[in-house]
Amino acid sequence: MSREIVVRNYRIGDLEDIKEILSEYPSPTGRVWSENMVEEMMSDALREQPGGVFVAAMSGKIVGFAIVMYRDWFNIAYLDYIQVKTDQINKGVGHRLIEKCVNWAREKSARMIYTETGKNNERAIKFYQRHGFKITGYIPDYYQKGLDAVILVNKLS
Ligand SMILES: CC(C)(COP(=O)(O)OP(=O)(O)OC[C@H]1O[C@@H](n2cnc3c(N)ncnc32)[C@H](O)[C@@H]1OP(=O)(O)O)[C@@H](O)C(=O)NCCC(=O)NCCS
Repeated sequence: MSREIVVRNYRIGDLEDIKEILSEYPSPTGRVWSENMVEEMMSDALREQPGGVFVAAMSGKIVGFAIVMYRDWFNIAYLDYIQVKTDQINKGVGHRLIEKCVNWAREKSARMIYTETGKNNERAIKFYQRHGFKITGYIPDYYQKGLDAVILVNKLS
């Protein structure tokens, strides 16, 4: 039986779970996440967009998170981060998180939501494409030398 996935806004007490999730993958630049890096990333996100930091929970345990930003002056949304705990992938957690971010961007009346990921991250690219994002370009050596970023855009209007 599949367990219910609840997506809600981030709370201070979620930080340790997010550290655990991030520690399961190298950061996009190839560096291992240090506690300081995670704390800095989360405090930057919460300062810039407190309403755009979401977590997904299953049976009360945090199994994924997403950060989305809305640029009012530009009327666009940027999906900054989405990650699911390795032992919970392929269960619809990412789907629920990205759906939340896209709906949140729609509620803001954003014209589009965009993101980027590593050119070698086939799983993420397919995942974004299944959720209406289209590849519009590349940024060479974006993450590190030899690792380009793929830019993906979902036009909302
Ligand atoms: C990319 C990522 C966020 C996707 O999250 P996810 O939770 O695995 O995504 P979903 O489960 O919603 O979708 C993945 C697959 O599970 C399937 N699925 C969806 N709901 C499901 C459910 N309830 N039960 C079983 N499978 C399900 C989907 O159909 C999809 O299958 P498909 O590939 O055959 O189409 C996740 O793999 C991840 O964290 N990757 C590492 C970090 C990363 O690359 N982040 C993004 C770029 S920076």
